This record gives sequence, structure tokens and C-alpha cells, in this order.
Amino acid sequence: MMKIPSRIITIDRTPVFFGNDAVSSIDRFVTTLRPGAVFILADGNTRRQCLPLLLEKCTVLENSRVIEIEGGEAAKTLENAEKIWNELLASGADRSSLLVNLGGGVISDLGGFVAAGYKRGIRYINIPTSLMGQADAAIGGKTAVNLGNLKNQVGFFYAARAVFIFPGFLNTLPEAHLRSGLAEIIKSALISDAVMWRRVQKRPVAVLLRQPVESEPWPGLIAGTVKFKNKVVMQDYREQRQRKVLNFGHTVGHALEGYSQLHGKPLLHGEAVAAGMICASYLSHRKAGLSSADLDAISIYLAEGFAGGAVEGDSIAAIMEMMMHDKKQLNGHLQFTLISKPGQPVINISCNHAEVLEAIHFYNATLSGVS
Ligand SMILES: NC(=O)c1ccc[n+]([C@@H]2O[C@H](COP(=O)([O-])OP(=O)(O)OC[C@H]3O[C@@H](n4cnc5c(N)ncnc54)[C@H](O)[C@@H]3O)[C@@H](O)[C@H]2O)c1
Repeated sequence: MMKIPSRIITIDRTPVFFGNDAVSSIDRFVTTLRPGAVFILADGNTRRQCLPLLLEKCTVLENSRVIEIEGGEAAKTLENAEKIWNELLASGADRSSLLVNLGGGVISDLGGFVAAGYKRGIRYINIPTSLMGQADAAIGGKTAVNLGNLKNQVGFFYAARAVFIFPGFLNTLPEAHLRSGLAEIIKSALISDAVMWRRVQKRPVAVLLRQPVESEPWPGLIAGTVKFKNKVVMQDYREQRQRKVLNFGHTVGHALEGYSQLHGKPLLHGEAVAAGMICASYLSHRKAGLSSADLDAISIYLAEGFAGGAVEGDSIAAIMEMMMHDKKQLNGHLQFTLISKPGQPVINISCNHAEVLEAIHFYNATLSGVS
């Protein structure tokens, strides 16, 4: 097994510990926080698959109380936040308490939200266990819950005290979730780093997924994505401008994800974002100068790797409607983050209804071309 270098990357004063030693750094770090009671938020899978390893390595967490919620996107609700607040209250949590979020993006988004609200803010750390969490969700201080099927409608910017990224946790992550996280890594490459995009592109998604997570290219891809997110968040913590680059693929992606949940065929976040990136690449070609060769390379790679369902019939109007509710909408036009070439993002590109529809038709045509 390759030795992954331990790194510390600072983001908005939040240290990010990365690599094989990340779990052992938790003891030292938590001790310096001198917390009162410590609570670990986990879902059923991370409690079973990740908590034993964490407790084995971290004596400081031995006496912590575990709060378990059901897993998955449907758990990111105000009701669950209230349930956790009630549990914290019943266990006597006060402002000296520490919340440890052990899980994927659902746990870090929900746990961060809970920490931001409880007694006007308690400290928390993220220990992401999914690829989505490690490469993206646990970093950057954005916390949220969903409202109905609309994603992330209520939330806070509230930074973790530290993030500990231990790629070894990914060994038990189901392949579908590894694939979903890979979509965010591809997004990061497309908006930040043409060299990283070419490294990804050399191997089809199916081949990448067969590589052990502790061997190259995984650690390099995760670290590259974390570093890039870091850089962007440090420049623009509150998403006034530069942080919007991270929304590439998310305008259509969020609507697709919400719609798919409403209709009983839930897409994973990364699957929806992959479809959204095909649409955004089409719009990039149409409005931002992305070459036809790049459009073809990106859309075929994503369609082969993520093969989501086509968007047809009534679902098109419903998805358009959901997009209009999205926060990236301004004065009736949808605001997109696009790319002029791999690695070169452009933000705040206004696209009208007809252009977005064309992008959805392009997505459908690409899917049928690779199937
Ligand atoms: N805040 C942000 O900046 C940000 C960025 C990207 C995504 N997100 C959010 O992240 C969420 C998606 O995150 P996700 O894909 O990690 O979903 P998730 O948290 O639901 O985790 C995916 C599944 O994998 C399981 N799991 C996690 N780690 C495991 C492990 N090591 N072994 C076995 N099973 C494991 C979980 O129990 C769950 O069933 C979405 O809600 C999205 O909005 C937030």
C-alpha cells in the first residue's frame, strides 16, 4: 500500500489533516480544544463501518455519546435537526460541548447545521467517510438542510474547527457512492486544472472505480480537489463571487436530484451533478467558447461513466420549474457557472429558458449516443 503523505491545509483557519495519519491527529487536536461533553453524529453505516476504527485510534473519544440518525439524503431535514437538538439537550450538552460528524456529506451538512444552531453555536469537527465528504462536502463551512425536495434551502456558513480526511475509510464505501464522489472530483478538475482533467480522462470511470482507494490516482485526486476547494473558499467564504465556480453542473444537477427523489427513483448527488455537467458543458460551448472537441470529450466521458436516465416528457417542465426556485436564478434568468476550456471557469452567465432546454436535449442525445 502506498504511503500517503500527511498534510495540513488551512482553510478559513480550519486545519485539514489529510492521509494515513489523519485519524491519529484527532486525539491531539481534540485535547487542545478542551471540550466538555463530546457527541459523535453518525448514520447506521458509519456507526458500523467507521466508528470502531475511530474509537480504536482515538482515546479522547472513548466516552463520547453517539447520536445515530438514519442515513441518506432524506435525513437532511429540520425534523432530524430538531431530534438531534433534543438529544443534545437531554444529555446536558452546553456551549463547551463538541460535535464530531462521522459520515458523508449528509452527516457533515446536517451536523454542521445542528452545531451552528445549538445554544447559538457549539464547536464541531468533520471526519468525512465518503468520497463526496472527503473531496468536497466536509470542507468549506457550508451547512444546510433541505426543505421538502428543494436542496439546501436553510443553512449557515459555520466552519468546522478541523477536518480529518482518512482515505482508508473509503474501503467500505459502496461503489455507487464512490462513483458519486468521483463526479465532484471531475467537476473540480474541469473548473480548476486541465492537467488533472487529462489525468482523470485517461481512465474511464469504470477503470478508476476498480483501483484501490489508497493507491494512485485516488489520494492525489482527493488532495488536489481539497486544495482547490480550499483556495476558492479562502478567497470567497460567503459565495459572493469566486466560490460560485464550484456550482459548475449544479444548477441542473440540483433540480434533477430533487425531481428524482420526488418520483421515487432517487439519483445520487454526484450522478445528478454529472448530468448537470453535461448540460453545463453544452451551455459552455454555446455561450462561453468551449470547443466542440472539448464538449464531445467531456460529455461522452461523463455519459459513459454515469449513465443517468434521460429527462423526457413532463419531467422536463418540472425540472425547469425546480431550477427557477434554485438560488442561482436572478430576474427570471438562470445563472450558470460555465467553462471556456477545461480548467477555465466563468461565472454568472445568464441563460434563458430556451438555451437550458437545448442543453437538456443535448444531454438526452449524448446518453442515447453512448448506450
Ligand atoms: N456543504 C457542502 O459544501 C457540500 C458539498 C457537496 C455535497 N454536499 C452534500 O453532501 C451530500 C451527499 O454526500 P454523500 O454522497 O457523502 O452522502 P451520504 O452522507 O448520504 O453518504 C452516502 C452513503 O454512504 C454511506 N457511507 C458513508 N461513508 C461510508 C463508509 N466509509 N463506509 C460505508 N458506508 C458509508 C452513508 O451511510 C450513506 O448511505 C448531499 O446532501 C450534498 O448536498 C455538501
